[in-house]
Amino acid sequence: MTQFSAAQKPGTAAGNTPTLYGGKGTRRLTVRDLAAAKERGEKWPMLTAYDAMTASVLDEAGIPVLLVGDSAGNVHLGYETTVPVTLDEMAVLSAAVVRGSKRALVVADLPFGSYQEGPVQALRSATRLVKECGVGAVKLEGGKRSLPQIELLVESGIPVMAHLGLTPQSVNTMGYRVQGRGAEAAHRLLTDAKAAQDAGAFALVLELVPAELAAEVTRSLHIPTVGIGAGVNCDAQVLVTTDMLGLTGGKMPRFVKQYADLRTTIGDAAKAYADEVVSAAFPASEHEVH
Ligand code: KIV
Repeated sequence: MTQFSAAQKPGTAAGNTPTLYGGKGTRRLTVRDLAAAKERGEKWPMLTAYDAMTASVLDEAGIPVLLVGDSAGNVHLGYETTVPVTLDEMAVLSAAVVRGSKRALVVADLPFGSYQEGPVQALRSATRLVKECGVGAVKLEGGKRSLPQIELLVESGIPVMAHLGLTPQSVNTMGYRVQGRGAEAAHRLLTDAKAAQDAGAFALVLELVPAELAAEVTRSLHIPTVGIGAGVNCDAQVLVTTDMLGLTGGKMPRFVKQYADLRTTIGDAAKAYADEVVSAAFPASEHEVH
């Protein structure tokens, strides 16, 4: 297994192996590329996207995997949780992200209520996102209870990313709490992770899980783990894009790092524009047509 140094340039690897982040290829990445990255010991970033324009910016920045997360419920559609998000809403957002990107593998969340009834319902929902919207894979939450769904989707040719730890669609039963603390809970999470892999999942999101446990899960699996609040030893990391851009308002969870302050930038730009409209400084003569 090749370990990349922190200084490794995006887009290149030892022996000219193309990397996921920043790689120059123009073809759409697939789950096979993620499997190869795990083999190489290469870490990669995933970000959420809900619209074509943001997707195109992230794609051009070399982000290899875009997640049309049902976090859209909180940060894009104005719901309090992810629970109300519908399959119709996910379909609109997913198709936009596919249209806006060229290279990234687009993974769409199956929203709450679109797969819990059983494998056949899951297949119907996932097929819609793959056929109508063009996503390359779907994500669903849950351990043991979601295994039959994972199995049928994968048998049917739809790659599945599993999601364990804090699963926001279960907020009404589990709340937003760290998962996997204590020996019994840790054992259950590790067992669920291996079962999801055995059922055919190509990757596993670990949300709000103690870092040592996430490291153990990552070592135990041959599929990549994608951490969010799960420490540095996962194979990949994901953040909600509006959180890491500093666009989401309110208090951020401890695991979010803000790389920009777009809320202030956008607010300041809106005020500058409004002030100039009110004072008649805008439009100036160069903005006029004659
Ligand atoms: O919906 C989402 O954005 C997610 C990520 C936080 C993993 O599930």
